[in-house]
Amino acid sequence: MNISVIGCGYLGAVHAACMAEIGHTVVGVDVDEEKVGLLSAGQAPFHEPDFEELLARNVDAGRLRFTTDFAEVADSQVHFIGVGTPEAADGSADMTYMTSAVQSLLPHLGKAERPSIVVGKSTVPVGTADSIEDAVVEAGGILIWNPEFLRESFAVQDTLRPDRLVYGVSKDEERAQVSQDILDEVYANIIGAGVVRLVMDFPTAELVKVSANSFLATKISFINAMAEICDATGADVTKLAEAIGMDDRIGKKFLRAGIGYGGGCLPKDTRAFQARTEQLGLHSLDFLTAINEINDRRRNHAAELAIEALGGDVAGKKIAILGAAFKPNSDDMRNSPALDIAKKLADAGATVVVTDPAAGPVLQRKRPEITVAADAHDAINNSEVTLLLTEWDVFKNLDPTTLAPANKIIIDGRNALDPQVWKDAGWDYYGMGRS
Ligand code: UDX
Repeated sequence: MNISVIGCGYLGAVHAACMAEIGHTVVGVDVDEEKVGLLSAGQAPFHEPDFEELLARNVDAGRLRFTTDFAEVADSQVHFIGVGTPEAADGSADMTYMTSAVQSLLPHLGKAERPSIVVGKSTVPVGTADSIEDAVVEAGGILIWNPEFLRESFAVQDTLRPDRLVYGVSKDEERAQVSQDILDEVYANIIGAGVVRLVMDFPTAELVKVSANSFLATKISFINAMAEICDATGADVTKLAEAIGMDDRIGKKFLRAGIGYGGGCLPKDTRAFQARTEQLGLHSLDFLTAINEINDRRRNHAAELAIEALGGDVAGKKIAILGAAFKPNSDDMRNSPALDIAKKLADAGATVVVTDPAAGPVLQRKRPEITVAADAHDAINNSEVTLLLTEWDVFKNLDPTTLAPANKIIIDGRNALDPQVWKDAGWDYYGMGRS
């Protein structure tokens, strides 16, 4: 099938490569010439396990190409929209890219032999699909909403074998059936492997995505609230999480206490969901204010611990930060808790040195004012305090006896280390909710 993917960021680029991998002929469209140039050469613009091989293989096979020219989508029967919906100043979703993608697409619809479908994948405020549908239909297409749930660092796996596929379909029964049949054909390989497909209306599909992200953020802030209480009472949040997680109704995933969530999705999507709900005159999501506040407090707490560990004054003191990405196996630093904490310490006067296996080189290029060390040994050398803020394996596997800091003080922002191993090596160990 001929497919176009509009927007070649994280979501779109991975989706385009995965669609080519399952046998389709795919064109990815983006306004960013540099990104299109890299992707066309089979080079990943971001660090994502398995992605570059998949990309290069499919570009080489001639099934996948990228362009800045919208006219090249005209042959496609299926148009995925995967543009970003960043956070506007008031916390709501900025729909500029979505609006412009739809406007650019409309003149090219209705030219394929069979009806063409427009598949919304971006995370949008509830009501978006309803507001776009008429324009798509008038232009000769059919709209279907198919939210994406991929996690960075598992993006390829999550696209090729998602937990479920969600289809939000039109109220018009014929359009609903046609769009569903075409999307089933696109995903035949995935559905054939046993992935469940759930069909619902537009608003429900839109809400599935934002409610899933809000639930995950809530789960993380819940365990971080428990970490605060554990710190005050001498309890251990890692043991607490293990014990409550054994109850199937709670589940053990996403109960890792630490410095909280960051990245391009959870922080912005929870705020946008809350903003949209308030526009609807509802206070149903007021609790998300508390969820965000708990998350912000974790970052302050980690920075304050470092300052306290140095007797309240960090001016001119070297502080080693292990991690810059918002999570391991990624070089994405959007809303990164690690960088936020690094900035708080730099603002307090510390000489901050950051290291990160994938994000480090990107940071050095984009933010030359930040000192980036080649590796953890380099960063920790002569440092007064060390903070582990992104739980890369290379940091988790450090042997504390081989390091040469000025002070043996480690703040484990992700509860990723074995406290006993570090204590045995003479370090003062501070965890999150398990000191
Ligand atoms: C998230 C959703 O998981 C995904 O379904 C959605 O499509 C996009 O947003 P992602 O942003 O890639 O994915 O990251 P995720 O793995 O969810 O982690 C988000 C943040 O939470 C990270 O900063 C991570 O370190 C933090 N986190 C996660 C915790 O602090 N504790 C946990 O237990 C889990």
